[in-house]
Amino acid sequence: MMQIADILLDWYGENGRHGLPWRQTRDSYRLWLAEIMLQQTQVESVKPYYQRFLDVLPNWEALAVAPQDQVLALWSGLGYYARARNAQRAAQKIMTDFAGEFPDTPESAESLPGVGRSTAAAVLASAFAQQRPILDANARRVLIRTQAISSDPKASKTLQHLWKLAEALTPADAHTYNQAIQDFGAMICLPRHPHCDACPLQRHCLAYAGGLSEQLPLPTRKPEKPDRCVFFLQLEDRSGRIFLEKRPDSGIWGGLWCLPQFNPEGSSNPFLCNDQQKALADGILLRERVRQFCVLRHGLTVEVKALTMVQKHVFTHFQLHFRCILATVQDDQIVPGVADQILTGRWFTRENALAEGLPTPVRKILSQTS
Ligand code: ADE
Repeated sequence: MMQIADILLDWYGENGRHGLPWRQTRDSYRLWLAEIMLQQTQVESVKPYYQRFLDVLPNWEALAVAPQDQVLALWSGLGYYARARNAQRAAQKIMTDFAGEFPDTPESAESLPGVGRSTAAAVLASAFAQQRPILDANARRVLIRTQAISSDPKASKTLQHLWKLAEALTPADAHTYNQAIQDFGAMICLPRHPHCDACPLQRHCLAYAGGLSEQLPLPTRKPEKPDRCVFFLQLEDRSGRIFLEKRPDSGIWGGLWCLPQFNPEGSSNPFLCNDQQKALADGILLRERVRQFCVLRHGLTVEVKALTMVQKHVFTHFQLHFRCILATVQDDQIVPGVADQILTGRWFTRENALAEGLPTPVRKILSQTS
């Protein structure tokens, strides 16, 4: 088993991505932030966000006390915004419960919001030179192939087995080894077409021996992505300002500033199906319904000007089909009785709106029409 680790370390010495920004530090804040951003996001997408975030919020304390809007604006475009909200809660917990230092045991580290076993291990290995194995998607794939593991890769039994293997393989210098296995998974043992011809583990790889490199890991069954449809309201006042609404803290866009959604039934389910959206868009009553909705929900009297074509945005669990209803606001006097709902909304110049934390489709809409 040790041979595999030695081969990976040699390979990493020659071929690794030593210049990655989070590899120039042993500071727990910088290491942790990189691991959080790299969850579900590619290295190249993370790089500019990482640097910008650190320039503005360089340490635990700065992040802990920052306005949530600022944190979300720095994260805007990176997706999976629960990570940003959890990151701030983790920094607050570090300030209050751990005297401003990242805790040095897995149990305490994993008590931080957004920090699972592998993320905790990556930080502990690099910040405190502890011998802790990681098991991110790259490491999992390398282990599954070298050991030709043909069970469901997400099953808890398989994961237990993989953690045991990871523990057995990880040498004292886990800091270097963890990076080696990540890079090896990202550069040689690729998900679709692994570079087996250039692989230094070829002689040790049971999947290669069995001609199974492209079949393993077994695909996990992906549920169909449902279609969800919404109308966004693009409300402009006389000076061209846009009305945005802050989303409640939970949900995919929690805490972000968003174009209000036109929700014709007033139902708690904010999504329509394809047929409902089409029927509404084609119906002669749309203008009037939007007008009523805006008075009741936002206290705004509007005049509908246009309806845009359908655009699509793909999320992990569904695809969003959205159309924008463009409307001008004739009179933004607050209508008595709806003040509590208006508190969640604010008028922004386009420039100010684009500086906030916005969902990617909303950013696109506001950039297109500026
Ligand atoms: N993916 C998760 N953590 C990583 C890291 N530290 N370097 C490169 N890719 C990663």
